[in-house]
Amino acid sequence: MTTIEKAKLLKLLYQYRCCGFEYFKEYKSANAVNRGLCENFEELKNRVVNCHICAISKNRKNVVFGEGNKNASLMFIGEGPGANEDETGRPFVGKAGMLLTKIIENVLGLKREDVYIANIIKCRPPNNRVPTIEEVTSCKPYLMEQIDVIKPKIIVALGSTSYHHLTGEYDLPISRVRGEVLEFGDAKLIPTFHPSFLLRNPSAKKDVFADMLKVKKLL
Ligand code: URA
Repeated sequence: MTTIEKAKLLKLLYQYRCCGFEYFKEYKSANAVNRGLCENFEELKNRVVNCHICAISKNRKNVVFGEGNKNASLMFIGEGPGANEDETGRPFVGKAGMLLTKIIENVLGLKREDVYIANIIKCRPPNNRVPTIEEVTSCKPYLMEQIDVIKPKIIVALGSTSYHHLTGEYDLPISRVRGEVLEFGDAKLIPTFHPSFLLRNPSAKKDVFADMLKVKKLL
């Protein structure tokens, strides 16, 4: 194992320990043992707010933990915070967020507070660049804890970064998989286009509309 690989592994183990996992137990059983810990969202949030595992934590204004109904059946997962989210500490509050809110309200007939909204990573990457694999590796365990506590029936992956990192299917473009109903643990995962993409390509709204009708049926 190279020094870099060792450093990455150590970082990951440290991350898991921060989430309450024990080093020598299998992921699943350690998870079950520590379920009581992680059901406490505030404690998890506290850990995330104080996280400095990866470099982008240095430049954040706020951690964007996620928000919404902790018992939601429906969870949306985006890529990562942008400038507005970094400023406010809330997910999807800029132009893309306004469009997502409209989709939730007008197409799904729900309130934004009824669903849970989070991102693959919780700090804003410089200039809104796509998060690196190292950043995702450090941060994704927090998201997995959130999913574990919320236990949504349906997860909507917003855009390719979200879809790729949730599934590990890095080679499939979002245009090929959007609207498919995939298995994701106990939940169904439905990838669709990111609202930012819709702002640049309004003709794709009809596809997201169709995907949301599918979500509505399955809820
Ligand atoms: N884009 C995202 O992917 N997430 C946000 O929170 C905002 C914009």
